Amino acid sequence: MGPKIRPALFSEQRELARVYTAAFWDDILFGDLIHPHRKEFPEDNELYWLRQVQVYWWDYTHHFIVSTAVDKQGTEVVAGVAHWSRTGASGRAARLGWWDPRRLAKPAAAACVKLSAYVYRNRAADPANEDIIERSYPFLGHIWTGSRSESWYLEALGVHPDYQNQGHGRALVAWGMEQAERERVACSVISAWGKETFYRNCGFDKEDCGHAGQGDGNPLADVKGGIIFFKDAPGKE
Ligand SMILES: CC(C)(COP(=O)(O)OP(=O)(O)OC[C@H]1O[C@@H](n2cnc3c(N)ncnc32)[C@H](O)[C@@H]1OP(=O)(O)O)[C@@H](O)C(=O)NCCC(=O)NCCS
Repeated sequence: MGPKIRPALFSEQRELARVYTAAFWDDILFGDLIHPHRKEFPEDNELYWLRQVQVYWWDYTHHFIVSTAVDKQGTEVVAGVAHWSRTGASGRAARLGWWDPRRLAKPAAAACVKLSAYVYRNRAADPANEDIIERSYPFLGHIWTGSRSESWYLEALGVHPDYQNQGHGRALVAWGMEQAERERVACSVISAWGKETFYRNCGFDKEDCGHAGQGDGNPLADVKGGIIFFKDAPGKE
C-alpha cells in the first residue's frame, strides 16, 4: 500500500520528533553542526524537534502533515513528516481578526518552550550553533517578496530511514504543491545538502533562487547545502 497523507494529530507530537531526529541524524546542519553531542544525549536531540513542533503547532499559518505506513504488526506508524507554512498576506491566518485569541497561542507556546529550554538545556546541542538557522533569517527575507511573498514554504521534511525511498517524501512535497496550485501562489523550500535532485524531481524549478548562507555575516555562509528552490505561481515565472 502506498503512503497515506493526513494532518498530524496532537497526540503524535512526540512521534513527529522521533521521525525528525532519525531522519536528520546524519545531516550536516541539524546533526553535526547543531547537535555534535547527539550520540551522548539522543533524547535531547529529540527534544529540539519536539520543541519546534510544540511552538509551531500553535501558529495558524503552519501545518504538520504526516505520511503513514503499516508496520509488521499491522499498526499504522508515522513514516514521514512535513512542516509546511503559508507565507504572505492572503493565507488563512491573515483572515483572523486582530482580536482573535488564536493569535495569542503561538507567542504563549513559544514563551513556555523558551522557559523549559532555559531550565532543561539541550545537552546534545552546541550552544553557539543551536539557533544558527534563526540567525540566518534576516539575510533571506528579501527572497520571499514580490510575486514570491505568497508561498507555501516547506519548513522541514523528514522521512524515517526505515521508510525512505518508498514515496513518502515525494507525497509530502506533493501535498504542499497542491495547496500552492489551488491558491495560485508559489511553493518554496531550502534544500539540505545532497537533496537538490530530489526536490527538482518533485517539481521545483530547476534553477536556484538563492542560498541559505548568502549575505555578509550570514552564520550559514560556510555550511554546505541550503539552495533555495521555488515553483513559481502560474504566470509569474
Ligand atoms: C529527502 C527525503 C525526505 C526523501 O524522502 P523519501 O521518502 O526517501 O523519498 P521518496 O521515496 O519519495 O523519493 C522520491 C524520488 O526521489 C528519489 N530520491 C530520494 N532521495 C534522494 C536524494 N537524496 N537524491 C536524489 N534523489 C532522491 C527517489 O529515488 C525517488 O525517485 P523515483 O520517484 O524516481 O523512484 C528523505 O531521504 C529524508 O528524510 N532525508 C533526511 C532528511 C532530509 O534531508 N530532509 C530534507 C531536508 S530539506
